[in-house]
Amino acid sequence: MEYFDIAKAKLDKLRNRDDYYILAIESSCDETAVSIIRGRAIISNIIATQIEIHKRFGGVVPEIASRNHILVIDNLVLEALSKANLTFDNIDVVAVTYGAGLLGALLVGVSYAKALAYSLELPLVAIDHIKGHICANFLVYKDLEFPFVCLLVSGGHTEILKVNSYHNMEVLGTTRDDAAGEAFDKVARVIGLPYPGGPEIEKTAKNGQNNIKLPRAFKGEKHLDFSYSGLKTAVINYVHNLQAKGLEYNVADIACSFQTEAVGVLITNALKAVKKSKANILVVAGGVGANEALREGLLEQGKQLNLQIKLPPKALCTDNAAMIGEACYMAIKEGILPADLSLDADCSL
Ligand code: KG4
Ligand code: ZN
Repeated sequence: MEYFDIAKAKLDKLRNRDDYYILAIESSCDETAVSIIRGRAIISNIIATQIEIHKRFGGVVPEIASRNHILVIDNLVLEALSKANLTFDNIDVVAVTYGAGLLGALLVGVSYAKALAYSLELPLVAIDHIKGHICANFLVYKDLEFPFVCLLVSGGHTEILKVNSYHNMEVLGTTRDDAAGEAFDKVARVIGLPYPGGPEIEKTAKNGQNNIKLPRAFKGEKHLDFSYSGLKTAVINYVHNLQAKGLEYNVADIACSFQTEAVGVLITNALKAVKKSKANILVVAGGVGANEALREGLLEQGKQLNLQIKLPPKALCTDNAAMIGEACYMAIKEGILPADLSLDADCSL
């Protein structure tokens, strides 16, 4: 039998089970991550972050990211197995993020996973990074089932989704320009804060006040779309105007005012979407989901509306491989086919 037929036969035997081990690999941006998942449980979860390496450049340098993934991936896989007290013989499936992300960075994970799956004769499952973020919630909320509404807020995505199943998701609202995380990162740079901007703005905002009036896009409109470019431009203009006059600006106040507006619109639209969809569960996914102002606002306002708000722990909001393993588990239940050895990275998935 050819590799693909062997892999498919093995995967088909796992569809109704939850007692098998998935080894998951994530390398789409600046974190190399490996995790072992069994059903809805994390057996081991290891992350090597490159933040300190990219900080000096003010953002992720793709070529440097790829090279650093190559340096650590092999040891991370061995460490994930050792932490789980397992060997390659115990692994049943290999899962890998194949998009979206940086092409060279994705290719490191994809090539490694293909070689591993082929040499161990295991099924290889190709996972969409974004679906991974959403599925992180299944690891924490053991009784969570489809369908639900998800506020997905990462560096490249800002979407409100009706998640009907792993394969079926409807977009209820999306950004027309920048993603929320991207806006955090760009505004941080303008006010002189280091990369990554989101956590830096959050930290700085704690010492500031929400005292700068910033615009809200689509105020009063019925749709649930977002726009962050006007907000970002308003901050840039505010800073440039004061600089032109030779005046000081208060970084903490700008951080606080920007954060209040940036998360305010997420909260308003997400809660509107949940009410409109008649689901009463809102699930949060993606790096910006680690933001305390967003988390507190959602919990507080969600409670007033009698909604259930599901917030993964911060480490499962930002990039990790446990979410990729869990997405793989969900995908297998829904009949996904294994990838064949022609699997390629898809940076714009
Ligand atoms: O989901 P993620 O880790 O990677 C992508 O798939 O993009 O999200 C990264 C984004 C970055 O823009 C980062 O600045 C933002 O999430 N982020 C935050 C926080 N932590 C990470 N934004 C606001 N507050 C945070 N605490
Ligand atoms: Zn991500």
